[in-house]
Amino acid sequence: MSGSIAVAEPQILHSSFAPRLVAWQQAFGRHGLPWQVSDPYRVWLSEIMLQQTQVKSVLEYYPRFLARFPDVASLAAAPQEDVMALWSGLGYYSRARNLHKAAQMVMAEFGGVFPSARAEIERLPGVGRSTAAAIGAFCFSQRETILDGNVKRVLTRCFGIDGFPGDKAVEKRLWLLAERLLPVDATQMPAYTQGLMDLGATVCSRGKPACMACPMADGCVAAREGRTAELPTPRPKKTIPTRHTVMLLASRGRQVWLERRPPTGIWGGLLSLPELDSSLAAEDWLAARGVGDVLPAWPEFEHVFTHYRLVITPQPVRLDALSGREAAESGGQWLDVDHASEAGVPAPVRRLLLQLADAI
Ligand code: ADE
Repeated sequence: MSGSIAVAEPQILHSSFAPRLVAWQQAFGRHGLPWQVSDPYRVWLSEIMLQQTQVKSVLEYYPRFLARFPDVASLAAAPQEDVMALWSGLGYYSRARNLHKAAQMVMAEFGGVFPSARAEIERLPGVGRSTAAAIGAFCFSQRETILDGNVKRVLTRCFGIDGFPGDKAVEKRLWLLAERLLPVDATQMPAYTQGLMDLGATVCSRGKPACMACPMADGCVAAREGRTAELPTPRPKKTIPTRHTVMLLASRGRQVWLERRPPTGIWGGLLSLPELDSSLAAEDWLAARGVGDVLPAWPEFEHVFTHYRLVITPQPVRLDALSGREAAESGGQWLDVDHASEAGVPAPVRRLLLQLADAI
């Protein structure tokens, strides 16, 4: 057991984890996938494609890519446009650019021979520790552990590990645990690694895990304690500040007053409702422009941006007669309320304009 980290995992699974997983993979895991080979180029390509893409889509793209680039030399020698064209539709295009660069690096720095040591594989652009370990395990039977999102789910559930797995301390603990669980016999590494992937993808799924079919069920903390819905611990919610604003719904007959926002900042350049610091300012707004009524405020509602939460109080005012000064005001316009919501306004403003059209 390692150093200072407190480990509370139940012992039952530790020594039996790898044998159970290997036996389960051989009986119930996925077999016959086209990348279940020992050529590191082919395994690398599949792992990069599978990083952010479903197996189903990769099954379509993978053979086409290999037909055009059967080895690392042909990939390295290709123009980048050809690589991008074959990647087109798979998304996350930095993967394709990195793949191409990495192929050139294998040619230039490794003499065209795909590296076998995890530390070297990890130097290739686009290859992280887990992907390097997958290549090392599948192609060279190295005792290196993968730790992707699926594996984190399996381990946090089986061993009852709380805390968001993206958190550095939790992640470190998971790497150490994953290393301890590796099979003693290195020849089992391909089946074991595939088993980790298969268990996470097919049995220990995010939504409704099939615990009845799981080889770990009798030792799994989450299954035993009914905590599969809680583990892994979700990413903590960001605490973002709350701001308040009053949006003025000034109507004159069936027209509504809209103003263009400054070109920079939130909703830059869009038409929007005037904003006030408080409902009291609506009296001043009205008094400066003519005669009418400040009506009861509508219920407030929230609009969430990435960096803050905006609580909006809609404040209707009805203008019955304009004073002369209003006509000279620039920066705003009266628009027909039945069409104003079509004029490129922010989403919450659009919603208010549609409500206003019904209310007046
Ligand atoms: N996802 C990532 N790597 C995979 C693999 N080798 N097989 C199936 N799914 C995967």
